[in-house]
Amino acid sequence: MDKLLIQGGIPISGEVRISGAKNAALPLMCASLLSREPLALSNLPHLRDVTTMLRLLGQMGVQVSLDDRAGVELRAGDVVNPVAPYELVKTMRASVLVLGPLVARFGEARVSLPGGCAIGLRPVDQHLKGLQAMGAEIRVEHGDILARAGRLKGARIVMDLVTVTGTENLMMAACLAEGMTTLENAAREPEVVDLAHCLIAMGAHIFGAGTDVIVIQGVDSLHGASHRTMPDRIETGTFLVAAAATQGSIRLIGADARILDSVLEKLREAGADVSADDGGIHLAMARRPNSVNLRTAPYPGFPTDMQAQFMALNAIAKGTAVITETIFENRFMHAIELQRLGAEVETSGNTAVVRGVLGLQGARVMATDLRASASLVIAGLVADGETVIDRIYHLDRGYECIEEKLSSVGARIRRAN
Ligand code: EPU
Repeated sequence: MDKLLIQGGIPISGEVRISGAKNAALPLMCASLLSREPLALSNLPHLRDVTTMLRLLGQMGVQVSLDDRAGVELRAGDVVNPVAPYELVKTMRASVLVLGPLVARFGEARVSLPGGCAIGLRPVDQHLKGLQAMGAEIRVEHGDILARAGRLKGARIVMDLVTVTGTENLMMAACLAEGMTTLENAAREPEVVDLAHCLIAMGAHIFGAGTDVIVIQGVDSLHGASHRTMPDRIETGTFLVAAAATQGSIRLIGADARILDSVLEKLREAGADVSADDGGIHLAMARRPNSVNLRTAPYPGFPTDMQAQFMALNAIAKGTAVITETIFENRFMHAIELQRLGAEVETSGNTAVVRGVLGLQGARVMATDLRASASLVIAGLVADGETVIDRIYHLDRGYECIEEKLSSVGARIRRAN
């Protein structure tokens, strides 16, 4: 199994190009199931989750062609097997995003029910409730969700809580339903908006994406389109925190500041100098960061996917920070690993108190999920001596070439087998 070896204590400095967003790419790829014509997606990140989604779509009968500029063309003319098997769903929960498009276009789907995961229970009841409201018949049998429907019917759906992939699944399904669907308490995440733009390019009638009420007027069919995947705001945030924590400076090319307000605000509060223009975002940190309190919330609140990285920043900051995680019930697994590096973190329920220390010391740690791994990389970049991070396959799910990108800005980081 691969490990990352980091020699910490060096401020990072330079430029990094931000990749396409994982959490936009995955639903965009599933949107290809809604049309018999090809969907061409560019700026897809090279990530394990994207490869898993290609395998999932491929085994259903979607024809996949790749070009050498991170472009993929997906042709779902003939889908012979509307099934997402356990072997793929267990490695990537976002597989559930095929459910809405399959039921809407083919009237049937069998998708393995995702189990709990390292960060929380993560049920999909809102996805199922919404599809049922549109007329789908849903059963769970032998661990699989079985969905059947004639043509789906538009419905008014009020979601009990804000769910990103739930909103995406139902928005895709509603595109081919008969009549109008209203999704209330919808997720406002930029990835939902990116998906809506792609669906609109395919001929869908969608209004209000980016607000908490999305209205979709169903059409009989969608056509082919081309779409460029939005930049990854969490990769952007992760590199910004890495620069702030090491008291370095970084320019992120292709990053979009307009979708990162809450994160940039916290970085400024920590003492960073942050500026943005059309080409990207620049951050410089000239002194030890101040600690920053934060509370995760659905967009435009502070993203749960940046909570772990800010815990690493707070670990070496001046002062004490209180971090409250409101989205997932078990997303502090990194705290115990950060303690191995000398961080002073106490967790209780959904709250963590982080007392900033002057420095961390390198040690062996273990990655437990994607963003937890990112926080360990940041802590390793700051720590004195060598940090060895085990189980980095989590990182490969969501960060394209992280060690190459960090090396290019001066970090001493390498992968070992
Ligand atoms: N929830 C339910 N029922 C549902 C759906 C969600 O109770 O039917 C709960 C979840 O258990 C959770 C909360 O609602 O407590 C929010 O979950 P959400 O559905 O929004 O999460 P998701 O759509 O499964 C996406 C991202 C996650 C990100 C969350 C929150 C993708 C592929 N994944 O997950 O990304 O943390 O939204 O913003 O878009 C990551 O990239 O590391 C990652 C975990």
